[in-house]
Amino acid sequence: MHVYIEDIGKHEGQDVTIKGWLSNRRSSGKIHFLILRDGSGFIQGVMSKATVGEEMFKAADHLSQETSVIVTGTVRADKRAPSGYEIDVTALEVVGESHEFPITPKEHGVDFLLDRRHLWIRTERQTAILRIRHEVINAVRDFFNDRGFILTDTPIFTPSACEGTTTLFPVEYFDDQKAYLTQSGQLYLESTAMALGRVYSFGPTFRAEKSKTRRHLTEFWMVEPEMAYASLDDVMDLAEDMIVSVVSRVLDRRARELKIIERDTSKLESVRKPFPRITYDDAVQMLQEKGLPFEWGGDFGGPDETTLSEQYDRPVMVNRYPAAVKAFYMKPDPQRPELALGVDVLAPEGYGEIIGGGERLADLDLLLQRIKAHDLPQEAFEWYLDLRRYGTVPHGGFGMGIERMVAWLCKLEHVRETIPFPRMLYRLYP
Ligand code: 4AD
Ligand code: MG
Repeated sequence: MHVYIEDIGKHEGQDVTIKGWLSNRRSSGKIHFLILRDGSGFIQGVMSKATVGEEMFKAADHLSQETSVIVTGTVRADKRAPSGYEIDVTALEVVGESHEFPITPKEHGVDFLLDRRHLWIRTERQTAILRIRHEVINAVRDFFNDRGFILTDTPIFTPSACEGTTTLFPVEYFDDQKAYLTQSGQLYLESTAMALGRVYSFGPTFRAEKSKTRRHLTEFWMVEPEMAYASLDDVMDLAEDMIVSVVSRVLDRRARELKIIERDTSKLESVRKPFPRITYDDAVQMLQEKGLPFEWGGDFGGPDETTLSEQYDRPVMVNRYPAAVKAFYMKPDPQRPELALGVDVLAPEGYGEIIGGGERLADLDLLLQRIKAHDLPQEAFEWYLDLRRYGTVPHGGFGMGIERMVAWLCKLEHVRETIPFPRMLYRLYP
């Protein structure tokens, strides 16, 4: 009977067949220890000469890493085995040979691995990370679906900017028209929120920033909720609930993967409500007290965010930034119009921004002023201005980059390992 390694525990004492690949092999005289993987997990197969006979034992002597094999054997519980089980092999069939698989158990440089990303993803650590990514995505979807948010997909070809004109990837559209790859679905979500109340989108997002940091990809996946009749506080409440829900689901369902990557899960267990909410003013003061040369009015850079997020054991929500450093669509604080009602959520352990969002500018005249002040072409935004002409309401939402979330949850050095095929400033292959 063909079974998947992740289900092996249900088959103790039975004869099963595993269809997979040989990840590693050790031999000692009369026994081969075969580390098998099938995508769902890893398990050790023990092949003894006494059981399989001289001929099969000898054939298994030459099997090299990543040979695809179909293995039959008996499932035996073994407390010492990482999966809790081993297989006593009775038969082995080679499906496809593999010679000199480039990624061996020894250490390799990151560029070497990234050039072979299509093979690198077969390793135990990488499969664990990709499974956690899968869990994060599904946890996010379930969170919004369970709360009555409607998934509304936003376009990838867009006619204009949302987050700033310098970070757009242009593409040729028909008849000499220029289109750009989306850098946020937000403006469209504001309109679907006016139609459906609470909405979200989840899709690929493109940023042509020439940033070469551990937090930047040129192509990443963003989930963006948007709510009609919502204030900045409502947006922060939602972000807090979503993060708590995703973290607890990953802890609950991906304990095995977190163990494989050696994540200290006690750090994730402290991610509970309430998250500290501090203003930009407080944050600036905190940086200055730490001796950083930061002046009020600027946007936080990577090192500033790292310092801020190291102060807390859970995500911190920094709100009310200077309007000048934020996008044109943010609502000014009625008490202090030089501030925007925006929030960035910074993940702990130095991870920095994982969420950006806030309350939107709902007033037509003010929005027109902002569009002018930002030198944006009003014609391109007529449809967006219509949302303020026909029954405007306070509203808001946020965007969360899946890769930043996964990098934090897995405590990775760089977001490049959180996505099957990362796209970066100098990386478009494979
Ligand atoms: O802060 P950002 O730019 O906000 C927006 O795009 C809003 N329009 C979202 C909204 O309110 N609907 O991006 C949101 C999040 C960031 O906090 C970060 O997690 C992720 O998207 N992000 C990136 N992730 C990887 N690589 C990049 N270059 C990223 N840029 C942003
Ligand atoms: Mg941001």
